[in-house]
Amino acid sequence: MPENLQLAVGLDAGSSRTRCVIGVVEDNCLRLIGFGEAASEGWAKSRIADQTAVANSMRRALEEAERMAGVSIESCVLGVGGVTVRGSNARSEIEIGRPREIDHRDVSRVVDRASRVQLQEDRMLLQALLQDFVVDDHPGHRDPRKMVASRVEANVHLITVSEREHDRLVAAVNQAHVAVEDTVFEAFAAAHSVVLPDERKEGVAVVDIGAHSTDLVVYYGDAVQIAASLPICGDHLTRDVARGLRLSFDDAACLKEEYGCATVGRTPDNSFIEVPAPPSEGREPREVQRKMLNQIIEARADELFRHVLRELLRVGMEQALMGGVVLTGGTARLHEVCDAAERVLQCQARKGLTAGIEDWPEEMSEPAWSTAAGLAMYSGRLKMREEMETRAAGLLGRIFG
Ligand SMILES: Nc1ncnc2c1ncn2[C@@H]1O[C@H](COP(=O)(O)OP(=O)(O)OP(=O)(O)O)[C@@H](O)[C@H]1O
Ligand SMILES: [Mg+2]
Repeated sequence: MPENLQLAVGLDAGSSRTRCVIGVVEDNCLRLIGFGEAASEGWAKSRIADQTAVANSMRRALEEAERMAGVSIESCVLGVGGVTVRGSNARSEIEIGRPREIDHRDVSRVVDRASRVQLQEDRMLLQALLQDFVVDDHPGHRDPRKMVASRVEANVHLITVSEREHDRLVAAVNQAHVAVEDTVFEAFAAAHSVVLPDERKEGVAVVDIGAHSTDLVVYYGDAVQIAASLPICGDHLTRDVARGLRLSFDDAACLKEEYGCATVGRTPDNSFIEVPAPPSEGREPREVQRKMLNQIIEARADELFRHVLRELLRVGMEQALMGGVVLTGGTARLHEVCDAAERVLQCQARKGLTAGIEDWPEEMSEPAWSTAAGLAMYSGRLKMREEMETRAAGLLGRIFG
């Protein structure tokens, strides 16, 4: 491998699986050169319980990806999600006085002001995402520079997280001998790998359904309108199956993943599956009606999407998703989960598959990889921006040198 490769690395440390994607930036594109996956350890209810165990899982995923790519990773973009994530809107304005052209300093000042909110203890700002500028009472501008005005307002969406959880996750990455370039909300990263800019304009919701958390991001007009963590996730489905069919958690997870379906309607009455005896009764395996399994799953899947609907209703966007709903994370593999989303949300739903990374193999064309892919794409964008800034500096150096 040449020495001056521009690597773009995404690390998605989930509570069930840790995934790493390594790309190389070439001619403003990202090409995949390695990926790695490891079972996660050290997590409890989407929070870090054992930092060293989390770091070891990261190390395993990173090393697998490094071996495949034939490179050594020094830094990555890290995904942050889970129960401590919250989103809220903020607004600020600046008076310019006598009308004049708005310049980049005005833009930075008004956005910076909107982002400076008083946070409660243990909260930190993860991302401040511009929604639009209002220029002399005219809303909907994405870039007001060069417009003549006397007042500019900025609307931003702020994503905050627990500072303690965030710092522990970063510390785990450092313990795995890798620096963190930036931290990004996981559903936001996933959205950039599975949704095109045009769909983001039309209105789209991305729901990343993991083992211990479900993260939601909703776009309209290419701006984030909602960022949230929802209280129902993949492990709820497993626990319901375990309780309902008197199985161990692991047996219930296998059953859910192999035979589960989020729509009961099409399951025939005469379809049976063999399940192990309850852990307390060492008897022969039993047969249960597949319908029973799917009734349990359907009820929870509907509840999950009703939480999405509640978030949409809160901001009046329940009719606004022309781009539909895109499902990512391991639970998006569940049979007919898109039908469940469509049933509750009354719009189109599809699985989120990564697009926009060259040489992305067929075997990774599945929704569990889209967050790691989006994080690598974000890392790639940081590298491209750095390169552009260096080139500009070089040019200025030549002009003024
Ligand atoms: N075929 C399948 N059908 C249904 N559920 C599945 C399937 N495959 C995996 N899952 C579920 O997906 C979940 C794991 O998803 P994922 O790998 O996205 O989690 P994670 O990113 O590690 O967790 P989190 O983001 O919550 O920290 C588990 O609940 C698992 O049971
Ligand atoms: Mg995840």
